[in-house]
Amino acid sequence: MTEFQPRVFSGVQPTGNLHLGNYLGAIVNFVALQESHDCIYCVVDMHAITVWQDPTELSRQIREVTAAFVAAGIDPVKHVVFNQSQVSAHAELAWIFNCVARIGWMNRMTQFKDKAGKDKENASLGLLAYPSLMAADILAYKATHVPVGEDQKQHLELTRDIAQKFNNDYAASIAAHGYGDAYFPLTEPLITGPATRIMSLRDGTKKMSKSDPSDYSRINLTDDADAIAQKIRKAKTDADALPSETEGLKGRPEADNLVGIYAALAGISKQQVLDQFGGQQFSAFKPALADLAVQKLGPIGAEMRRLMADPGHIDQILANGALRADAIARPILDGVKDVVGFIRRN
Ligand code: AMP
Ligand code: TRP
Repeated sequence: MTEFQPRVFSGVQPTGNLHLGNYLGAIVNFVALQESHDCIYCVVDMHAITVWQDPTELSRQIREVTAAFVAAGIDPVKHVVFNQSQVSAHAELAWIFNCVARIGWMNRMTQFKDKAGKDKENASLGLLAYPSLMAADILAYKATHVPVGEDQKQHLELTRDIAQKFNNDYAASIAAHGYGDAYFPLTEPLITGPATRIMSLRDGTKKMSKSDPSDYSRINLTDDADAIAQKIRKAKTDADALPSETEGLKGRPEADNLVGIYAALAGISKQQVLDQFGGQQFSAFKPALADLAVQKLGPIGAEMRRLMADPGHIDQILANGALRADAIARPILDGVKDVVGFIRRN
């Protein structure tokens, strides 16, 4: 079996306010993986325009996600941070994957169905092909591990399907070019960490999302202490006291979500939260949760604001990251072109 060197890749769309779900579901893991792996973290601006984005706002959001990465503790010197559109290998490989993947695979994606809504015919072609570009993001670096939230599981299975089909369709050429029995690794999703699915503060059955029209549904990384406290105070709950055992959270999605958020922010288990707060009312638990959230998120928001005050510095981080990303992706893409049978300049 061809061996692949371990490498982490993940992406975040610059399409709205980064929130607590992005932070606990993804960014906390991005930070932790830096200790053990070479990591590439990408602001996926080409994915963003699969639905309409105001150009001025898009530029601002690209910088804001970059600022969030750095403020949360990602080191853009030891690891690679950049925006997707600066490295053309993503678009080039995505085209080749468009010719490997099948339309039927794309039509089955739940994110496509959700985002396209009722009028599928009127969705952009890019929205349908979104997972093919995502596979290209990952495989342009032969990344072996991808940390994401629960909602991305299906896209990562499709990434494996594309890698597998490419490895099969081109098996003879891959071997003839000296790449052994596989050109691409079958990437492992890393859906771990404190909270893989944070729910809306207004409805414990819906995930916290950038696109929810109600700002009270989410805690944004840029929210100040007052906004955080107010959103937690107004968060939907039921009328009962907190249970003493996690079993008692079943069928109480809002209580389960708030206890989960507390546990994730404090770095303890839900049971440990209930050991402390079991039997108490939300009127006692919510202020404690608000204090904890302000303590953990406040410094990140402040650092983001400081970084955003110097856009030139952020652009420099992205340009530097793009050069380094390109240096990794270029030879991998050249190998793909050889395997496919394209003629290229030397
Ligand atoms: P996106 O904002 O869709 O680009 O998502 C960026 C990352 O955050 C992905 O890894 C998502 O899986 C993760 N994520 C988004 N929303 C949530 C949520 N409510 N709970 C946990 N993870 C999430
Ligand atoms: N689809 C991901 C999301 O909506 C973002 C993304 C794009 C991504 N390319 C990626 C995540 C590559 C991991 C790896 O959250």
